[in-house]
Amino acid sequence: MSKQIKITETIFRDAHQSLLATRLETKDMLELTEILDNAGFHSLEVWGGATFDSCLRYLNEDPWERLRSLRKYLPNSKLQMLLRGQNLLGYRQYPDDVVDEFVARSVDNGIDIIRIFDALNDTRNLERAIYATKKAGAHAQATIVYTVSPVHTIEGFIELGVELAKLDADSICIKDMAGLLKPLDAKKLVAGLKEAVSIPIQLHCHYTSGLASMSYLAAIEAGVDVIDTALSPLALGTSQPPTETLVAALKDTGYDTKIDLQSLTKASKRLTKILENYKKPPIAVDTNVLVSQIPGGMLSNLQSQLEQQKMGEKYPDILQEVPKVRRDLGYPPLVTPMSQIVGVQSLFNVITGQRYGVKSKEIKDYVKGLYGRPPTQLSPEIIEMIIEGEPITGRPADLLEPMLEKARQEIAEHIQQPEDVLTYVLFPEIAKKFFESRNA
Ligand code: CO
Repeated sequence: MSKQIKITETIFRDAHQSLLATRLETKDMLELTEILDNAGFHSLEVWGGATFDSCLRYLNEDPWERLRSLRKYLPNSKLQMLLRGQNLLGYRQYPDDVVDEFVARSVDNGIDIIRIFDALNDTRNLERAIYATKKAGAHAQATIVYTVSPVHTIEGFIELGVELAKLDADSICIKDMAGLLKPLDAKKLVAGLKEAVSIPIQLHCHYTSGLASMSYLAAIEAGVDVIDTALSPLALGTSQPPTETLVAALKDTGYDTKIDLQSLTKASKRLTKILENYKKPPIAVDTNVLVSQIPGGMLSNLQSQLEQQKMGEKYPDILQEVPKVRRDLGYPPLVTPMSQIVGVQSLFNVITGQRYGVKSKEIKDYVKGLYGRPPTQLSPEIIEMIIEGEPITGRPADLLEPMLEKARQEIAEHIQQPEDVLTYVLFPEIAKKFFESRNA
């Protein structure tokens, strides 16, 4: 068996989102573009996920301007982004007119590949974004969000892959955001998908638990086409496995990446220098996640929120409560926005000492079916405890009125480019502040 393994480099999106709270500035990225553009990557993940929000909220940068700069300085690279299906880059569902326009503008500003996922693996939340991506002439990568639970199986994920291929996706990504995918499961899943569908398979693992490099090798031997890695200064911990290590491991084998190790070393040296201006946490392997299945970032968040309430001693109760709430909600994968919904409700339950006495709007919406279909059916008792009436059965976005025209009128005085209305629809308050400071 011999084939070139392709690599997506993530330092401009996931790696700094995972290790630097998404704070890497555009000017620092531009110092690396020349080396990366010619290194031989399959693609560079540069946009989407939390970077859009973070640009506006913390860096006072226009995310669209960032994308245009990267496009300009990476003329030979395929630029990739991460999109949360019908939630786009926000935390709620948007109507189809917003999805269509957002995808069209993203491609127009330089995106080549859109990785589209839904936290619940509800394909009805992916359909429109896949359609819009293909219509815009870009590559639509549909995602299997990997998790471990009593209702998730390798066979189930393979069936999901078949469904995604039927939606006309150009490739499939297996997204292991919590670092839970074990090598032999990776092998089974990739081999099963390669047999069931004819489109390329990409694997995206976080290193968190220490499994990722092993799972990559197993997946490569099972036929995976592309893997996601990060240059070593922003690798490991909650980020991806190191690019240089994978490139070296596969060099002169049947799986050679054909990426130039020398230019990677040069890029890493420069990146190390840049990172002197950032606060990077010490690299750690968190094997607790293998037992608790709760992502580390979610736990540290909950811990600090308890401490703010002067209830730090309740931390062990939270560890017990998160899996219970997740079970009550039909075992959703703990990824945005489900990690927040499960986390907040677990906090409410522990702080008040009464389960579901206080409920967030988001959990009510979830149980109503407004985020999509839970991985398994909820019990009638849970439904009754959280909402009045019955959950909806249709596609959630079908209930939403178009938003763009109204938003355009609301923000008319601030619009300087067609993208501004999208920024406003996604993050109204922050966008207004940003537009005002831009004019000042
Ligand atoms: Co990721």
